[in-house]
Amino acid sequence: MPERDIIAGLDIGTSKVCAIIAERGQFGEVSIIGVGTSPSHGLKKGMVVNLDKTVQAISAAVDSAQRMAGVPIESVYVGIAGGHISSFNSHGVVAVINENEITERDVKRVIDAAKVVAIPNDRQIIHVIPRDFTVDTCRGIKDPEGMAGKRLEVVVHIVTGAVAAIQNMVKCVERAGLVVEDLILQPIASCTSVLTPEEQDCATVLIDIGGGTTDLAVTHEGSIIHTAVIPVGGDHFTQDLAFGLRIPFAEAERLKLRYSQPRVKTYTLEQTAATAIPGEYDYSGQFFSNLPEVERDKIASIVKPRAEEVFLLVKKELANLVELGIAPIQCVLTGGASQLPEMEALAQEILGLPVRIGNPESAGGMADYVKSPIYATAIGLVQYACQNSQQNLRPVSAGSGFWADLLLRVKRWFKDFIPLD
Ligand SMILES: Nc1ncnc2c1ncn2[C@@H]1O[C@H](COP(=O)(O)OP(=O)(O)OP(=O)(O)O)[C@@H](O)[C@H]1O
Ligand SMILES: [Mg+2]
Repeated sequence: MPERDIIAGLDIGTSKVCAIIAERGQFGEVSIIGVGTSPSHGLKKGMVVNLDKTVQAISAAVDSAQRMAGVPIESVYVGIAGGHISSFNSHGVVAVINENEITERDVKRVIDAAKVVAIPNDRQIIHVIPRDFTVDTCRGIKDPEGMAGKRLEVVVHIVTGAVAAIQNMVKCVERAGLVVEDLILQPIASCTSVLTPEEQDCATVLIDIGGGTTDLAVTHEGSIIHTAVIPVGGDHFTQDLAFGLRIPFAEAERLKLRYSQPRVKTYTLEQTAATAIPGEYDYSGQFFSNLPEVERDKIASIVKPRAEEVFLLVKKELANLVELGIAPIQCVLTGGASQLPEMEALAQEILGLPVRIGNPESAGGMADYVKSPIYATAIGLVQYACQNSQQNLRPVSAGSGFWADLLLRVKRWFKDFIPLD
């Protein structure tokens, strides 16, 4: 049986759960081989509020990704976000053990030293990302291993989350019969799939506007230097439309998506029926045919103030960069709600930066299928995991879709009858 290095990512979002299965090649290249999405009804603002609904959505997304890939998965890298996330920078310093050469052990010691900060009992560390090292007086070193020096310093970016919120997320994944390999902050994943290496080197702001949250990451010299999660997203645009036009949420969502499609000025019953929204936008596959006739301008007048609010909150968050001595020079928008009309121009006006919309870049048979801002996090999860994990070769027979299905069903059956927690 051939051995394959399979990695899976799970983006548990407020609007949809997306599972991506990828294969890592001999030289570390990542090919997407399976994609599965399912509507998500168990989260609010990026946090699990209903375990059963979240487990169902995870199972459905993973099942369809496995069927597409034809390989079973047992473990996943899970994206995490939500208003409970916070982050800060910390500094560590150690004396080098052997002055002739800095070893892996010295690097680990200095990172551990930077991690020694008081963190409340109800919070846990998700990431410790080294920004740069200083060897004696030489600053800005990315990889100090092998260098000579007496004193090693590091500045790290630490991301923490609320223990309870993290445990609920992990619980859902485990109840769906999967093992959590690691948790990855969603905007960090999106940076990996959307930003070019040049953008990661310059002070670039990535804004991922999802359904329940707007996730922010700032990169500089190839590292993440600032992250934040703002609890406002695309669902708030829909809510505003529902209130403003006095229509149900589902119809407002439908209208919002239609409004995002260029060239359609008004929405009549006939137009609604004639231009069915592509499946990619319609996670549930439902179709609403009773949209009222609404002028595009009226929708814009409701959507625009909310978009302004999002970018003003981002601007306020970016003010924190002043103390790091960094001024962002460009901005990349991604996430489902970045596709609303005029978002680029509005961000440019409020943030005063050049802005582009970022689609995730990936390879493999499914690369075109997932080239949409809604997949930025899910694709980024597997790419980040591939860059930061060891090779994990295991025998997988090609075309094992049936066995993948069977294995998952048996695992769930055991979980139902013998609860493990
Ligand atoms: N073409 C589009 N135009 C405008 N909005 C869109 C479009 N496609 C999706 N959206 C909106 O984007 C949001 C979903 O985006 P995304 O799939 O990135 O969110 P998510 O990852 O599920 O949520 P979160 O990251 O906030 O937990 C929804 O509010 C949806 O209405
Ligand atoms: Mg998201």
